[in-house]
Amino acid sequence: MKQIAVLGHGVVGSGIMEVLEKNRVQVEEKAGCGVEVRYVLDRRAFPGLPYSDRFVTDFSVILEDPEVEVVAEAMGGLEPAFTYARESLSRGKSFVTSNKELVAAKGDVLLALAREKGVRFLFEASVGGGIPVIEPIHRSLGPNRIQQVAGILNGTTNFILTKMLREGTSFQDALELAQRLGYAERDPSADVEGHDACRKICILAALAFGRHFYPEDVPTRGITGVTARDAAYAARWGGSIKLIGRARRGSGGRVALEVSPMLVPGSSLLSGVGDVYNAVQVTGDMTGDVLFYGRGAGKLPTAAAVVGDIAAALREPGNDCSLFWGPADPAMLLPPEEAPSQGYFRVSGLDREELELFFPGAFFLESLEEGEEALITPPATQGELDAAARAAEAAGGRILSRFPLL
Ligand code: HSE
Repeated sequence: MKQIAVLGHGVVGSGIMEVLEKNRVQVEEKAGCGVEVRYVLDRRAFPGLPYSDRFVTDFSVILEDPEVEVVAEAMGGLEPAFTYARESLSRGKSFVTSNKELVAAKGDVLLALAREKGVRFLFEASVGGGIPVIEPIHRSLGPNRIQQVAGILNGTTNFILTKMLREGTSFQDALELAQRLGYAERDPSADVEGHDACRKICILAALAFGRHFYPEDVPTRGITGVTARDAAYAARWGGSIKLIGRARRGSGGRVALEVSPMLVPGSSLLSGVGDVYNAVQVTGDMTGDVLFYGRGAGKLPTAAAVVGDIAAALREPGNDCSLFWGPADPAMLLPPEEAPSQGYFRVSGLDREELELFFPGAFFLESLEEGEEALITPPATQGELDAAARAAEAAGGRILSRFPLL
């Protein structure tokens, strides 16, 4: 019997206990041993559970117990999660986590520490909830030179957009429902403002391109600017509007990163992905396009991904050195204005002929409102589109919406 500890007994932490209890046979078969949760760390008490006697409030109890081999963290937030991760790895305990904030901020440091100590730092649940994406990108797609990773990476906002735009639910009602279902972050502005998706694309970019990328360096927009009118234009065009995280290999080996609502063509497999589902599309030079699809948030899907890592760390405690990336290199980031882009604009105050002067070669969608035009530009750089938008505004146009195309 091997001993583990679980940090946090919220949505995911209690889900870990449930998965371990309900699917003990499957988990132990994968782990190659019996698995026992010796400690659950939480500030709160949880009386009446079959494992209420295992709760502790002091992390040092876990750290000082030499029999605890794996620490599974589901508290969220950077601290104290980072301190607990560093201390666990330093003491030769593997650390597995669903915490994307932790991995996006400190992944390079913790991977280096795990490598030094010969233990595992695993984080499958940090991106895509229940979808296996870290391991297949790292291992199965390893021989590829990755060109692009793009995806719907936040279940809460995809759920909200689906409810708002397909069913006419208000933003507030859709958000409250997402919270009740356990999809949203403790502070849901991390979902709505795009920060959660940003952390996840940074993790995927690090896997794909071998360097750490910091979320604060990534242009990030959330869903608050998405209107029903834009969704209607997208639908008429045969597509949809989705919050997308995208990392692309650009000129000089540099990487263009962004998070934004994007106009997704109907021909893209991402266009029809609704509700809490996430999808990650990876384009490799050998394999071509691969799509990962599944439940991107929620108690049991996310917990199952954590438990998969627990089993892997128990079966093979030695460090899997190939799961690794180096520290950030600012020269690897393509400046946003140089990033290739194609834009959707909704503009009032100028007619088609006038707009064609600023957006030559644009494709105009059938107008849905007197006095406004919606157009899609040909490929350009983001800097060129910024300049065109400024010129149109200087001539009396008003940019009502602007989103990149996927
Ligand atoms: N709040 C996150 C989401 C949870 O909605 O995707 C899963 O990371």
